[in-house]
Amino acid sequence: MTFIEPDGTRREVDAPLGLSIMEIAHKHDIDIEGACGGSLSCSTCHVIVDPAWFGKLPEPDEEEEDMLDLAFGLTRTSRLCCQLIMTEDLDGITVTLPEETHNFLLD
Ligand code: FES
Repeated sequence: MTFIEPDGTRREVDAPLGLSIMEIAHKHDIDIEGACGGSLSCSTCHVIVDPAWFGKLPEPDEEEEDMLDLAFGLTRTSRLCCQLIMTEDLDGITVTLPEETHNFLLD
């Protein structure tokens, strides 16, 4: 899969099936915070999904939607990547890191 950093740098990385996109980012030192460790109590794992891939993702549940509303720089294809689990269908997915994140946990 590919991460695009806020400055436009593309990072292609191995994406083992069954890991969340947040876990994959952490394995490769990609700068996604994920402050709550995937328990849907922050929005620091916000990513912008490439529109070509967005439709292949399972729908967000209500909790994710509520948290997403708090994400800084929300877009139509925003998701919380701790909720996105790698599957064969998502092989090759591209996500962009938003420019700024805002950690509501530390406020
Ligand atoms: S890591 Fe906190 S919601 Fe994803």
